[in-house]
Amino acid sequence: MNSSVRNFLYDYPEHYESAYPEPNEETPEMCRRMFARFLAEPPSSILDVGCGTGRDLAVLSRDCPDCCGVDYLGTMIQYARSKHPALHFQVDDMRTVRLQRCFGAILCMGSAFMYALSNEEVDQVLDTFVIHAHSGTLLILDINNAASYLGGGSFKDQTEYAVNLGGFSASATALHDFDRRRQILVRTRTWSIPGYPTIEDFCEYRLFFPAELEHLLEAKGFQVLGMYDNKDLRETDLSSPRLYVAAIRRP
Ligand SMILES: C[S@@+](CC[C@H](N)C(=O)[O-])C[C@H]1O[C@@H](n2cnc3c(N)ncnc32)[C@H](O)[C@@H]1O
Repeated sequence: MNSSVRNFLYDYPEHYESAYPEPNEETPEMCRRMFARFLAEPPSSILDVGCGTGRDLAVLSRDCPDCCGVDYLGTMIQYARSKHPALHFQVDDMRTVRLQRCFGAILCMGSAFMYALSNEEVDQVLDTFVIHAHSGTLLILDINNAASYLGGGSFKDQTEYAVNLGGFSASATALHDFDRRRQILVRTRTWSIPGYPTIEDFCEYRLFFPAELEHLLEAKGFQVLGMYDNKDLRETDLSSPRLYVAAIRRP
């Protein structure tokens, strides 16, 4: 992760879960849908790269106990371990982590892949996927959909956030801009917390277009099986803001 990243929610993982609520366990449910659609049988092991608080992995581990999560941030991993002590979590970097084993499914959810900013970093993260995959491993990515910004699409230059948890409340306004040459979405976010000075966040996210991502994955030996802009996995024109990708490691 770039040293310029500042994210209030990463310092307080419980607030991260509050700011990005996940009703009905919808992300792991989507993963299950992909397992059912693209694998002959559910995976017997799962690696979650950029696992954050570990909540997706915790849900999936009900059917698949051999789960491992890695994240760059000690705050996230500490929280994940405290909430889900039966699972294996470790602080590590998706560009360089080497666990000396393969997994039946590899997840990289909640925009974690977009932290690979340069082409070199993208290659490094894809190599991490390759090294932890065997023939038939299903890779699932969940990122912003750059195609949704085309032609007056879903790009918003401002987004509002709110955290309400156990008497604590905070709100934030995020402003978005592009570095078009580097294909980067730049987010600056200001938090207002009653009784405290304001907090400024900063983050850059690499943007990927569907065909570009397919090309990158194919070059590393992953065949793209589906790209969706919805968690029900309906075929659409990919005009919605998220992109969910399923790809399988070729023999
Ligand atoms: C928006 S959070 C998503 C967390 C989780 N996947 C989810 O969907 O709830 C992105 C995560 O990517 C992690 N991350 C960013 N750069 C990373 C890197 N180089 N290696 C490992 N994790 C990274 C961050 O620490 C953060 O927890």
